Amino acid sequence: MGRCVYLFSFLLLSTLCTSSQVFAAQLDQTQTGVLQKLFKSLQSNFSVPSSLLNNGDANPCNWNGVGCALSGSSEVVRELSFSNFGISSIKSSSFEDFFDSLCSLHTLQHLNLSSNQLSSLPDSFFSNCTGLSGLKYLNLSSNAINQQIPNFKFRDLEVLDLSWNHFTGAIGNKLDSLTKLKSLNLSSNSLHGSIPPLSGQENGPLKELVLSMNYFNGTIPYSIFKHGNLTYLDLSQNNLIGRVPDEFNNLSKLETLLLNANNLSGNIPTSLTNLKTLYRFAAYQNNFSGLIPIGLTKYAKILDLSYNNITGGLQPDLLSPPTLESIDLTNNGLTGSIPGNISRNLYRLRLGWNQLSGTLPTSIGELSLLSYLELDGNKLEGKIPNELGNCKNLTLLNLASNNFENELPLGLGNLSNLVVIKLQINNFSGRIPSQILNWANVSTLNFSLNALSGEIPPQISNLKKLANLNLGGNNLSGSIPSTIGDMSSLNELQLGNNKLSGIIPAMPGSLTTALNLSHNSFSGPIPSSSFINSLELEVLDLSRNNFSGLVPDSLTTLRFLTILDLSNNNLSGTLPNFHNWVNVIITGNALLSNSTREATSNPDHPHSKKKVNPGLAILFSVLGAFFGFLLLACLIVFSLSKRFYRVENVGLQSDDITLPYITDGRLITTNSIHTSNIDFTKSMESVLNPLNVFMKTRFCTYYRVEMPNGSIYSVKKLNFSEKIIQIGSQEKFGHELEVLGRLTNSNVMVPLAYVLTADSAYLFYEHACMGTVFDMLHSSGNVLDWQCRYSISLGVAQGLAFLHGCTQPVLLLDLSTRSVHLKSMNEPQIGDIELYKVIDPSKSTGSLSAIAGTVGYIPPEYAYTMRLTMAGNVYSFGVVLLELLTGKPPVSEGIELAKWALSHSGRPEDREGILDSRISHASIPVHSQMQSVLKIALACVAVSPESRPKMRNVLRMLFNAK
Ligand SMILES: *[C@@H]1O[C@H](CO)[C@@H](O)[C@H](O)[C@H]1NC(C)=O
Ligand SMILES: *[C@@H]1O[C@H](CO)[C@@H](O)[C@H](O)[C@H]1NC(C)=O
Ligand SMILES: *[C@@H]1O[C@H](CO)[C@@H](O)[C@H](O)[C@H]1NC(C)=O
Ligand SMILES: *[C@@H]1O[C@H](CO)[C@@H](O)[C@H](O)[C@H]1NC(C)=O
Repeated sequence: MGRCVYLFSFLLLSTLCTSSQVFAAQLDQTQTGVLQKLFKSLQSNFSVPSSLLNNGDANPCNWNGVGCALSGSSEVVRELSFSNFGISSIKSSSFEDFFDSLCSLHTLQHLNLSSNQLSSLPDSFFSNCTGLSGLKYLNLSSNAINQQIPNFKFRDLEVLDLSWNHFTGAIGNKLDSLTKLKSLNLSSNSLHGSIPPLSGQENGPLKELVLSMNYFNGTIPYSIFKHGNLTYLDLSQNNLIGRVPDEFNNLSKLETLLLNANNLSGNIPTSLTNLKTLYRFAAYQNNFSGLIPIGLTKYAKILDLSYNNITGGLQPDLLSPPTLESIDLTNNGLTGSIPGNISRNLYRLRLGWNQLSGTLPTSIGELSLLSYLELDGNKLEGKIPNELGNCKNLTLLNLASNNFENELPLGLGNLSNLVVIKLQINNFSGRIPSQILNWANVSTLNFSLNALSGEIPPQISNLKKLANLNLGGNNLSGSIPSTIGDMSSLNELQLGNNKLSGIIPAMPGSLTTALNLSHNSFSGPIPSSSFINSLELEVLDLSRNNFSGLVPDSLTTLRFLTILDLSNNNLSGTLPNFHNWVNVIITGNALLSNSTREATSNPDHPHSKKKVNPGLAILFSVLGAFFGFLLLACLIVFSLSKRFYRVENVGLQSDDITLPYITDGRLITTNSIHTSNIDFTKSMESVLNPLNVFMKTRFCTYYRVEMPNGSIYSVKKLNFSEKIIQIGSQEKFGHELEVLGRLTNSNVMVPLAYVLTADSAYLFYEHACMGTVFDMLHSSGNVLDWQCRYSISLGVAQGLAFLHGCTQPVLLLDLSTRSVHLKSMNEPQIGDIELYKVIDPSKSTGSLSAIAGTVGYIPPEYAYTMRLTMAGNVYSFGVVLLELLTGKPPVSEGIELAKWALSHSGRPEDREGILDSRISHASIPVHSQMQSVLKIALACVAVSPESRPKMRNVLRMLFNAK
């Protein structure tokens, strides 16, 4: 879209210049009449403020959206830009008239009807609008037009933008008559079939072709190389397969080539190295293999081949061309070392998750423009060169998961622009030098899982913007600096698995995501005063210390708590009364009882009787770090939520409630029951009241909202952040939601409507009144019978098989029993299907490369691949099955249910012990069906992703389980 506008700025400019020169000339009677009529229809529609239309002026050429030009001695209408004018709300009786009037403006060259929520245009507009035969520019983007691509009659069209609609079907030769096209944008529709040959445009002026985000399949046809004027070619996010023809010599003007997110394979075409004009080439998320062609970066300045299967070493000429600005080779099979000769113009270098070895060259210090450096997940070793401190522009430094060692160099302290520093999972040792802790902008600091020792320097509290601090899994000793309470941005503090002791100081009020002090040497009573500032804390982990005495009542005032882990201490007395959504873990405290609620962990849990496994500490520390990792996403998600809650607090005290500023609100469903029930303003008032919260998960808060007519809906709040939504914007997210909203499966929670505000998204659902599967299994007093659990497993499998089976499969970022809601006891609905659209690690280009999910459900390979897969979803589903079979939570005492079940699955008599004995002996058929389902569950949680069954097969096996 943007590019079309750019292309046509010339046309626009000439229009505007001419009209400003003319003051005496007049628009003729006929055209004046037509414009009056058009604006009258627009005004009949309440959703457009009359100030926008601004047609008080006598000369219609001065009205909003109207552009005129001189033709002979009079003015004529050349341009109408009715973007976001609410045209779809024009009364249906005058809707066709509106378009007929448009068609009578013979002089029109430029028509923009984008963003009008149009679901269709009158047939006659495409088939019989002969009046507009001179039209050169037509923009219908960002509507909801749901039909096949029409046979266009506008023979003079130079720019056609149909992007962000619901156009379906194949294109065939429907566009062939538009031989003058310079720019064609069909992005983000539901178009099928092969890439259209566009034979009408062969050897023509076509410069820009954007076919991204559709369902185009098959291979890239040779016909594409017959458009020798192409400068911009975008085929990304389709289902293209096979090798890419090596014919790019024919596209000698090509500047941008985007092939990302398809299933393309074979080698990267060598002919690309000859294109002198090539500026940007992106082929990430495909299956390309082989070596990187020599000379690929000779001309290309921006290269992204991440998430492929490219092998070999980094040739010396790959990074050295001085024009190279950005290179991303993350997640391939690259080997060898990092060459020392690197372009001084490089601002982004991402080589993470390969098999690179050797040291970090000291010449890295010469890259004064370098802003993003990610080398995580390799086998790099040695010291961090002190010269790295010369990269003054560095904002992101990620060297995690390598074999780096030695002390942290003092030079790091010079990186004054750092925002994210991740050095976890290496062998760094020695103290944390206090001199380096003067990064004024750092928001994420992760040094976990190293061998750092000594005390935590009190200077850490100088990092005023630090939101996420993870020092877990080191040998840190002494006490937590008392100034920690001054860290007014701190959201999450991970200090688990160290040797910390002493007094726990007061924690800052900003701490909202997590506080993990587990596995340290803290003792004495849990200090109630330390946490009372952090009223919005979500996760508090005090497990594996030596805390004794009563659990303070004050912990129940933490109104946003979802997990409280007190396990393995010496606590005593009775647990105070927590909200039902708080998962309180108290095992391993012999004297602590829980009289008021069902224990979340079954005290008869088989491994609670065992001795602590020596591997447990390691496992737990990995888990802890992983937690930190996952929570990075949350950090950003939740860092904005605070602001929102503040508004809420103020609002509740005074009378005038400040509603968040709504940037967009739309109904997705067309079901008239919902469209008449849902009231956005009322809903926004309701979400300001924390009493309406009925559930919280890692990423979302759910509100129960009563609409003015008494009907109940669930509204889910998801916090927005630029950093997470990498490509695109709120507008794009809105579009994605509408696509998801069109899914129909009774086991999937589909959004009915959404509201976007500056920092949050609110999604509307039918209220699933029975709560989640987690609540049913672990928090309600009743024991669910097997019939019920079996129906739930079938329903979830059906929903997931459906999502995986979509033409563009929907992967779940976070499948857990907390994300499966129950409409009735045997009607489960999978929620949170939109999350993967929000946090897509493989697409993120900035600082975020964390995959997310819920601990216990995360497949082991995610730690290395950082890529969401169907097999990963199958693993999480396996954990859900195991939960249904065992009645146990996904993690207890640091051991994941899946690992526990796998380790007990060797002999048949051991398998018996896995099943929930409260129900497995109900009858012989129940017992045998549970045994069969257990086999399926174990297959789903297989360690190797390749050996897990596909959801379709899982569903079939579940149906047949007897
Ligand atoms: C096409 O438009 C003309 C006048 O605008 C009208 O007379 C004719 O009936 C239309 N034809 C069709 C097929 O709609
Ligand atoms: C480029 O466009 C011009 C018309 O604008 C056309 O004559 C020429 O053949 C095109 N070149 C190629 C290589 O297709
Ligand atoms: C492409 O998709 C269509 C359905 O839209 C299907 O009929 C066709 O077989 C597919 N072609 C290839 C090569 O996969
Ligand atoms: C990657 O390529 C190697 C050989 O180059 C091959 O053995 C391996 O199977 C490929 N992996 C994938 C996931 O395609």
